[in-house]
Amino acid sequence: MKKNEIKTSGKNYPVYIGANIFDSLEKVINTKKVYRNLFLVVDKKFQSLHRQDITRFTLNYSNKIYLHEYEACEANKNFESLLRILNDLITKNYGRDTTVIAIGGGITGDIAGFASSIYSRGVQFVQIPTTLLSAVDSSVGGKTGINFEETKNIIGSFYQPDIVLIDTEFLKTLPDEEIICGMGEIIKYAFLTDIKFFITIKNNLTKLLRLDSSITTKIVEACVNFKGDVVSRDEKESGLRKILNFGHTFAHGIEIEQNFKVKHGQAVIIGLACAIELSKKIGLLEKSLYNDFISLPLALKDKIAISGFDVEHIYEIMKRDKKGRDQKIKFVLLKDVGSLFVDVEAEENDILHSIRQGISYFIK
Ligand SMILES: NC(=O)c1ccc[n+]([C@@H]2O[C@H](COP(=O)([O-])OP(=O)(O)OC[C@H]3O[C@@H](n4cnc5c(N)ncnc54)[C@H](O)[C@@H]3O)[C@@H](O)[C@H]2O)c1
Repeated sequence: MKKNEIKTSGKNYPVYIGANIFDSLEKVINTKKVYRNLFLVVDKKFQSLHRQDITRFTLNYSNKIYLHEYEACEANKNFESLLRILNDLITKNYGRDTTVIAIGGGITGDIAGFASSIYSRGVQFVQIPTTLLSAVDSSVGGKTGINFEETKNIIGSFYQPDIVLIDTEFLKTLPDEEIICGMGEIIKYAFLTDIKFFITIKNNLTKLLRLDSSITTKIVEACVNFKGDVVSRDEKESGLRKILNFGHTFAHGIEIEQNFKVKHGQAVIIGLACAIELSKKIGLLEKSLYNDFISLPLALKDKIAISGFDVEHIYEIMKRDKKGRDQKIKFVLLKDVGSLFVDVEAEENDILHSIRQGISYFIK
């Protein structure tokens, strides 16, 4: 089991990565000395697929433990589900000496993390991501939250976990669609990091889609370490951290306009195509690089389908997105691999063109 360390101003925490490491959870909890009263928030679908692992852990665990099952989907990433978690924490008599453990994808991690940050003014929190997307991205960095009406993650907090444990064996039950979603964030990192990583991702797409163990663990670790480094330099997203939103302003607009029929990670892939289009349209990205860059999100175009979209509505949703101030949308745009600009504004016509063009590749 590999141990990486994320350093932030308020907290340093380990990220353990490896196959079949879930059984070491109690040892890890003891090593880090987090509170031993455990409140698990477990993704219902994951629980049904990995019941044996969870039951073995809960039966053998030597302290107070309670399992709250959560049906993870964007529609349930809301106040009602949050209240159910808080209600269980209260009625099961959990005090400040509690560690909440999220076991599931990004939705479970985001809502359980938010509950941890407000329960008893903040209890300890462990992330056990079980999707590719949550392993490479959402489980580190401390963004937590829920959706409200048509706005994603609008209510939330920055709340770093105390431990992250990534058991790559859990990823093996993911349906293809969820692997594609994780690929969305991985492709994002390909653009954010450096040309060597970009080429590695480009040359290993097929292996990654198969979750080939020779490459998956290495890529998960690289993404986690890159994000950890960005977060350690700008935890609250006042500058540098904004690059992690590359493609996401478009993605949030698309997933909401499509009423979440297009999943977050799939929307990120389409959003990356839109962001590359806009980067070219405003003259930031040179034509000579454009073909090579757009071909990366488009390599997955046969695996995503979108139909019947309303460009104007997507644009309206993007304007409401929390990253837009004074109704002006701020974009993260691309000049080159590892060279991105944040807070870029663009003309309405160019934005509408980029949405239309970016989505057009994925229309079935
Ligand atoms: N906090 C952050 O920094 C951050 C970053 C990126 C994305 N996000 C958020 O993450 C969410 C998306 O996360 P996600 O893609 O993991 O979605 P998700 O949590 O909905 O999980 C996707 C699906 O996979 C199922 N699942 C989970 N683990 C499984 C397993 N091992 N085998 C089989 N099925 C399994 C879930 O039940 C669900 O149906 C979005 O809400 C997004 O806003 C947050």
